[in-house]
Amino acid sequence: MTQERRFPDGFRWGAATAAYQIEGAATEDGRGPSIWDVFARTPGRVHLGHTGDVACDHYHRYREDVALMSELGLPTYRFSISWPRIKPDGGGPVNPRGLDFYDRLVDELLAAGVEPMVTLYHWDLPQTLEDLGGWTLRDTAFHFADLASAVHARLGDRARTWTTLNEPWCSAFLGYASGAHAPGRTEPGAAFVAAHHLLLAHGLAVQALREAGARELSITLNLSPVVGDGEAARRIDGLHNRLFLDPILRGSYPEDLLPVIDRFAGLDHVRQGDPAVIAAPIDLLGVNYYRPTWVSTTIGRPPNAAFPGSEGVDFTEPDLPRTAMDWAIAPHGLTDLLVRLHRDYPGIPLMITENGAAFEDDADRPIFLRDHLAAAHAAIAQGAPLTGYLVWSFLDNFEWAWGYEPRFGIVHVDYATQRRTPKESALWLRDVIRKNALT
Ligand code: FCB
Repeated sequence: MTQERRFPDGFRWGAATAAYQIEGAATEDGRGPSIWDVFARTPGRVHLGHTGDVACDHYHRYREDVALMSELGLPTYRFSISWPRIKPDGGGPVNPRGLDFYDRLVDELLAAGVEPMVTLYHWDLPQTLEDLGGWTLRDTAFHFADLASAVHARLGDRARTWTTLNEPWCSAFLGYASGAHAPGRTEPGAAFVAAHHLLLAHGLAVQALREAGARELSITLNLSPVVGDGEAARRIDGLHNRLFLDPILRGSYPEDLLPVIDRFAGLDHVRQGDPAVIAAPIDLLGVNYYRPTWVSTTIGRPPNAAFPGSEGVDFTEPDLPRTAMDWAIAPHGLTDLLVRLHRDYPGIPLMITENGAAFEDDADRPIFLRDHLAAAHAAIAQGAPLTGYLVWSFLDNFEWAWGYEPRFGIVHVDYATQRRTPKESALWLRDVIRKNALT
């Protein structure tokens, strides 16, 4: 008999999505273009030339989608706001029709008994701001704080949990260093400057929303336990994890990274007073976990473009089972990560805001989820203050540079008909949620 693993009372369960990946309606009701619209239309950037123009058509089908969430017993729904719907030019006046959509969505969720969890930025920067310099421009951080205030003014009476940014590492280093994501720039120095302005944007938004009375403020980071030998592991852990964790939760950049930042970007973009803004207290840390990062030292190895300063580091992964994205499956990394966060950054409640996998055969997904939930449970048993788990994703959707091919959903989407069909994994998860336990 397998052992029953009960989750703490009040554990928050649910599913996540992001605006550009599901909404479609790319030019409707005054929405402006985002960097992902432009990037996806650039030949060679996204697999098979896929775009988010239609995606899951959630903009028109949100009622059906919310009804399905409720049928599937999902108590929480994490979604993101499309900045170019709210402010088509990035700054400037609010487009009320953009806000109306999220207003309707939140009402629909609440009526269905599903708690809305708002993420203010999941990678779709208005193209107008990118044309001015994007995240390399300090002003972008202030525009983001204005966006946050405008959205909160409309939804803050009904939405309790506010997440500023999703995975700023990806915005900065995939967007500006490796160029695998929009805006597709390959300037390592710009990536460090972008990272700083993303952090500043987060801090400014936290300050603004706290003043406006927001109840629970958070940021979601994509964190990856780094496995490997001494200096290589420390460098990559710094670039991937501590570059964001330390400024937010400790009030300063890690000492060992300052020379790296200085080498690529100088340090002038870090102004006096910024660290205090960035470290504005938050109530929850969102953790997106997919897989560990394995490294070893190999003299002469050229740098990985997504990790400027990683020369001499080899990223070879061990031989493990893999997902359809070719990502290694390593649930134990989730235990290590949560226990480490609890040890190194004590006191901050944690929530898994994304975990999941692309599989061609959904039969693999319940096993993946079960093993990761067991790993999360093991971390709780070791004292990690884990308060919830959201699966990525509610629907199959536009998986960024990979287009629609990888299927991450617990609900299948037939893109030709937009028909939704819950997969076995959705029913399996419903059962876990109902029992608040793995049995
Ligand atoms: C995360 C993103 C999310 C999705 C998953 C698979 O990095 O936040 O939008 O693409 O990966």
